[in-house]
Amino acid sequence: MQKIYSFKTNLLALMSTLIIAFSCGDKGGNTPPPDPCAGITISVAATPTSPSTVGGTNGSITASASGGGSSFTYSINGGSFQASGSFTGLAAGNYTIAAKNNDGCTGSTTVTVAAPPNPCTGITITVSGSTTNPTTGGGTNGSINATGSGGTGFTYSLNNGTFQSTGSFNNLAAGTYTVTAKSSAGCTGSATFTLTDPCTGVTITVGGTSTNPTTSGGSNGSISATASGGTAPYTFSLNSGAFQSSGNFTGLAAGSYTVTAKSAAGCTGSLGFTLTNPNPCAGVTIGVNNNVVNNTPCAITNTGSITAAASGGATPYTYSINSGPFQSGSAFLNLGVGSYTITAKDANGCTGNSTVTNVNNLPAGPLFTAVKTVLQNNCNSCHNGTTANGGMNWTVDCNIVTNKDRIKARAVDASPSAMPPIGLMPAGERQKITDWINAGGKFTD
Ligand code: HEC
Repeated sequence: MQKIYSFKTNLLALMSTLIIAFSCGDKGGNTPPPDPCAGITISVAATPTSPSTVGGTNGSITASASGGGSSFTYSINGGSFQASGSFTGLAAGNYTIAAKNNDGCTGSTTVTVAAPPNPCTGITITVSGSTTNPTTGGGTNGSINATGSGGTGFTYSLNNGTFQSTGSFNNLAAGTYTVTAKSSAGCTGSATFTLTDPCTGVTITVGGTSTNPTTSGGSNGSISATASGGTAPYTFSLNSGAFQSSGNFTGLAAGSYTVTAKSAAGCTGSLGFTLTNPNPCAGVTIGVNNNVVNNTPCAITNTGSITAAASGGATPYTYSINSGPFQSGSAFLNLGVGSYTITAKDANGCTGNSTVTNVNNLPAGPLFTAVKTVLQNNCNSCHNGTTANGGMNWTVDCNIVTNKDRIKARAVDASPSAMPPIGLMPAGERQKITDWINAGGKFTD
């Protein structure tokens, strides 16, 4: 029991203590901590130093703070704080310097780093000089020799290139150039120079005559070219070949040629020439002599022919009949009655006047004529166009020729039976048939 009592007493004491402590804590929270910067004003004094040159970046600012606290640190344009109030490497411009003491209290000021006075103010740098144009068309041996004035210790730049100690610029093509001169103080001036191509405005005119090859396909044509409009002496080139001092070109075949003339200054002009082959047919007259063989009628195939012989052109000739294809052979065979046009063409393609040749039928021969009379007198009553016994009509000449063997068989040999049916003709009449057959039995026999 005593133990329980004792615990109860201690618990009450502890509770009293907590209540007291709580009351004290409540009273402390109603009192804010003191502001260490209250009433403190940090002043910053800053001394600028300009860059040594216009556009330079070696300006500086030296700052020092005062007004409370100690262990100041410094910042420029919101940068990190540093122990030193010295800032270097500055270009001209406005800067904000802040200072902070060991309690974190800050102050700031704005300071201007002024640009140094411009040494070129009132200074005019003048560039003058001379030019030398390129000596040949398209050449690159032009030059500029420039000199600056209005300052000292000049260096020179061509077209904003690197500055060099001399104002001489060589190996220049025609064109416009800007030379800038810079004095040792950095003051600049510039001038424009123009180099002119010696061929600008120069027109080289090429003239001349050409002579065609004297034979078709020959190579004895020539060109004789001349030039004007530039400075002599000229040189000449054929079809972009090597230049030569003469404008004469020989040994030329038919074709198109270009002659280029070049003046002493290298200015060029050109002209085209065309050489043509002579007409191989000019003055050539081709004649055709035709040897005609007339046709033998009633033959199985026509026997007429024309054999042509051309002259007056270049051999070999070819020949055409009735505008057909040209052939190397000069003979046209198996021709019937008709008119034929023969054309000859020589080795150069020259054609002669066409000649019209008639092929006629040969006349009937005497043996045939005698047989025909025999048939008229002894046979035609039964063998004509109206009554053609056995299919035979002897009033048509070629029927006689075609069936000669049958005629002989019936009228001479009585095989298989005699014609005319009443009996064989007298021996003299039959002999005429035999003689004709023996001679060949043709229309012309
Ligand atoms: C009176 C009428 C008559 C006379 C004239 C006559 N013929 Fe005929 N010929 C005929 C008759 C009909 C036939 C058909 C029957 C035959 O083939 O025997 C014929 C058939 C032919 C035939 C065809 C048969 C064969 O062998 O291929 C030949 C050829 C012919 N005669 C040749 C002659 C000759 C040639 C003569 C005159 C020399 C001639 N005839 C005179 C009546 C005649």
